[in-house]
Amino acid sequence: MDNLKAELLRGLWYVATVGSEVKPGRTIAKKLMGEPVMIGRDARGRVFALTDICPHRGIPLSYGTFDGDTVQCCYHGWRFDTAGTCTEIPSTHEYQTIDLSRINCGAYACREQQGLIWIYFPENGEKPEDGRQPEPPMLPDFGVDDAPKIAIMQPFVCSVDHAALGLMDPTHAAFVHTSWWFKKNATRLRAKVKEFAPSELGWAMVRHKLPPQNIAYRWLLGDNVTTEIIYRLPGLRIEHIKGDKHSVVGLTTITPVSEDETEVRQIFWATMPWVAPFKPLIRHLMNVFLGQDRRVVIQQREGLVYNPKLMLINDADTQGRWWMQLKREWAASGEAKRPFENPVKAKTLRWMS
Ligand code: FES
Ligand SMILES: [Fe+2]
Repeated sequence: MDNLKAELLRGLWYVATVGSEVKPGRTIAKKLMGEPVMIGRDARGRVFALTDICPHRGIPLSYGTFDGDTVQCCYHGWRFDTAGTCTEIPSTHEYQTIDLSRINCGAYACREQQGLIWIYFPENGEKPEDGRQPEPPMLPDFGVDDAPKIAIMQPFVCSVDHAALGLMDPTHAAFVHTSWWFKKNATRLRAKVKEFAPSELGWAMVRHKLPPQNIAYRWLLGDNVTTEIIYRLPGLRIEHIKGDKHSVVGLTTITPVSEDETEVRQIFWATMPWVAPFKPLIRHLMNVFLGQDRRVVIQQREGLVYNPKLMLINDADTQGRWWMQLKREWAASGEAKRPFENPVKAKTLRWMS
């Protein structure tokens, strides 16, 4: 593992942003997977994603204008539809013929579901339906049009691997996520024993009852509160907590901006209708929590630039090992053109946290 850069896996759907970030008739420009991407929403509300480079002379198309139907480059006014096909070259004289259908700026497969905009980054230019992950995953208990209650994003100056290792690391919380309202310090660690099993493109902390001290969950969700946490490629953590009355899904996504920069999102859906008045407070607490993770990766980088040899220990870092194994297997099976074989085996993990 390179300490500063991560290998970026292709042939997978990535969360590019949340739907509410892209208004009808508007576009946004981003770098994702080391590539310039323009994401837009047409006048009918459909999302699309184009390579943000004009094929004429290379200026980003996002400097141009979008009329809800076509994007016009700011330099010589070439127009492209939302599939990336050129529809107009203003300089064309009536005595010239140019086959516009052969000019394309490049488009990404793009889907909006459950309030998330997913973009597919192909392995060899293949369409998602011909690849190994035809559709982005659906979150449990919520419909395709159910938008999240709250979503936050923070840019992390670290590779997707260090973001992932932090995300699936069960023992840093007692040291990093300390505050007067959550945990004061790491003096009272509890013994944890959890069952893990392989699941699609990753593994799951098997569904289990929340311990009785989590009274707040019972009050919010009803009796018999259980939780399951799924980790899967290309960097998703899905926590599904449900009780007799309500359920909540918390999604954390890590999307590579480049080999050494990452966007981390925390998003949650809830079946309770009364969340609205608490949104500012919840959003603030989520930002504090994620900011603590962000602070440690900034500090960690001060050491990583010296390229030290790092350790992953049992059982605290077993999930970190699984992440690296999953990545290697995804890359190796893609190269060998064979089916992906999940390397994770069912296991009980024990740690103090
Ligand atoms: S560079 Fe875009 S139209 Fe010329
Ligand atoms: Fe954390």
